[in-house]
Amino acid sequence: MNHFTYRGNELFAEEVPVREIAGEVGTPLYIYSHATLTRHYNVFDGALSDIDHLVCYSVKANSNIAVLRTLAKLGSGFDIVSGGELYRVLLAGGDPHKVVFSGVGKSDDEIEFALENDILMFNVESEEELEVIDQIAGKLGKKAPVSFRINPDVDPKTHPYISTGLSKNKFGIPSDYALEIYEKALKLKNIEVVGIDAHIGSQLTQVSPFIEAMEKLLRLIEKIEKLGVSIKYFDIGGGLGIRYRDENPPHPEEYASEIKKLLGDRKIKMIFEPGRVIVGNAGIFVTKVLYTKKTPLKNFIIVDGAMNDLIRPALYGAHHEISPVVLDQKRGKIIADIVGPICESDDFFAREREIEKVGRGDFLAIFSAGAYGFSMASNYNSRPRVAEVMVKGSEYAIIRQRETYPELVWNEKIPSFLR
Ligand code: LLP
Repeated sequence: MNHFTYRGNELFAEEVPVREIAGEVGTPLYIYSHATLTRHYNVFDGALSDIDHLVCYSVKANSNIAVLRTLAKLGSGFDIVSGGELYRVLLAGGDPHKVVFSGVGKSDDEIEFALENDILMFNVESEEELEVIDQIAGKLGKKAPVSFRINPDVDPKTHPYISTGLSKNKFGIPSDYALEIYEKALKLKNIEVVGIDAHIGSQLTQVSPFIEAMEKLLRLIEKIEKLGVSIKYFDIGGGLGIRYRDENPPHPEEYASEIKKLLGDRKIKMIFEPGRVIVGNAGIFVTKVLYTKKTPLKNFIIVDGAMNDLIRPALYGAHHEISPVVLDQKRGKIIADIVGPICESDDFFAREREIEKVGRGDFLAIFSAGAYGFSMASNYNSRPRVAEVMVKGSEYAIIRQRETYPELVWNEKIPSFLR
């Protein structure tokens, strides 16, 4: 459920007509609904209420500091993959003691920054990384809390680019090697082993791969605890899917109840790293029709947004629902490609899509764009990054200004030898 709904012919974001925001702020832009964000967080967190748990929202899905602040106020922790994400979390008032640091390639500076801020734990992905964390913690006079990300070799049955839990993927430590690395960690002076972790992929539409991965990790936990370590945290990552078109992903209640069944009365704190399920349907992307054009083969609707603003269709062939912000059934429908201005043929939002016959100046809403939309945006083709707006009831605020041309080049420089 989300708060982007049509009232009559007009699309509203909560209590505000989308047309009004687009008119005032300009296009392209992202609009997020505070009520939807809050609802999704509470539904997810609430479903887990019988389990000792911590939700660590995955910052990469949408890292705007107003989004992070909304979630921090609800009590969320954060899953980060870079120093930049930690910086954002701190700025937004997030609690560093509720931060887990994931990722295969943490740099020395990032490790230091995280240690200085006393994060909850590092999800370590290789032996070399473990050694580096030990050294840096030693230098800072700290003990680094670590868990190991295990690659359980489970097929998440999702797009190959966002599958991470198969042995062929670069992620995690192979299960067969897990005991060895825990043993090694126990010998390191500046390391405190606190947990175990897995993240098998994103946009999962079934519960079974999560359960399969958890079963494997629970078996491992038994073996690891025989080494004399107690595993405090069991982090199962993120990955729960959402509906973009006709997918039927499990409701958080179903996901939680399967997990509950599996855990029984085991005493362990579960950590979850949801991204998309919290923010995906809490955002839309709004773009304006610049031109329409008909060729012997196709109809094209050329809009002011492009793949640099929302790359999911181009990168994964992802489907996003698209409709006019103001409907007018009288104008009839066409089949068209909805494309952006960028000089690449994969700069499209939809291909062969049935849509009302819109024209120059009409606004289109691209739905389910709250996750991996703005956070994956770039300046390709020297396009300023778009504005972001948050709506709360009948109020709205710009939470990121549209970039200006000077901002595009503010940190570039012509060296003296070219003067
Ligand atoms: N934890 C870790 C370690 C992750 O790598 C990810 C996502 C998450 C949590 C959050 O997963 P979620 O709950 O959002 O599925 N750009 C792609 C998705 C990439 C996901 C990367 N990792 C897309 O637009 O579909």
